[in-house]
Amino acid sequence: MKGVILAGGLGTRLMPLTRVTNKHLLPVYNRPMIHYPIECLVNAGIRDIMVVTGGDSAGDFLKLLGNGSDFGLDDIHYTYQKGEGGIADALRLAEHFADGDKIVVVLGDNIIEKSIRKAVGDFFTQRRGAKILLKQVEDPERFGVAEIKGNSVVSIEEKPSNPKSNYAVIGIYMFDAQVFEIIKTLKPSGRGELEITDVNNAYIAQGTMTYEILDGWWTDAGTFDSLLKATNLVAQGGANRTDDEVGGRAGELAAAGIPA
Ligand code: DAU
Repeated sequence: MKGVILAGGLGTRLMPLTRVTNKHLLPVYNRPMIHYPIECLVNAGIRDIMVVTGGDSAGDFLKLLGNGSDFGLDDIHYTYQKGEGGIADALRLAEHFADGDKIVVVLGDNIIEKSIRKAVGDFFTQRRGAKILLKQVEDPERFGVAEIKGNSVVSIEEKPSNPKSNYAVIGIYMFDAQVFEIIKTLKPSGRGELEITDVNNAYIAQGTMTYEILDGWWTDAGTFDSLLKATNLVAQGGANRTDDEVGGRAGELAAAGIPA
């Protein structure tokens, strides 16, 4: 499986911090924001990674990350999104890189506490379709919100004013190769973007969407308040804690056939 990190967009909600740099290069406690999604994928066992970026500071990603040796990688792939056409528009650019493989997509401003290795392993053995990760939150209207019936997600609404649940769809998505065909059918939303929620709803309509509840904390870092929250959470206990650091899950993972 391959990993794709989406780090384009204009970061307008963080102006003026983003006037002269890309949001994902801003600090979250002691590291640049983009480090966290890369580490998330590496911890899950993914070594083939593309970063989609955009704007005027794209070259700074190369200066910062190089070939990924800080993360133990042999190389990192990069591509460039013109404009801010939405999350699905940015993902579209990874089609050649994915080359028919399943992918794990991480939004560049999403930070989590623990490893997603188990969920990635589960998706590896899922025959087809997609998997999303959900987390209960107090402010679901800020996110994509999942309506769950029994063991299934029956719909996702993007930033609803009357959320049907408090389960936010976090910015880590697993897709099979169909995702690029689905993106080609999308129309821009009211905010003029190709929405990842429309991609997920296409998989739901197809009956091939699965979900898991994320263990540990999760936050985005795309607003002043969430950037501060992310900084505090990382400072308090660290992000991307490996299963060994969290403890107690090694046996469970081995039982699921996922090597440590
Ligand atoms: O954080 C999770 C949420 O992320 C989900 O619950 C929502 O369903 C999903 O739509 C998204 O919501 P946001 O409105 O917060 O996404 P935002 O526009 O902040 O974009 C998130 C990341 O996606 C951003 O850090 C970089 C990347 N992105 C975004 C856009 C609009 C791109 O690479 N290109 C883009 O054009």
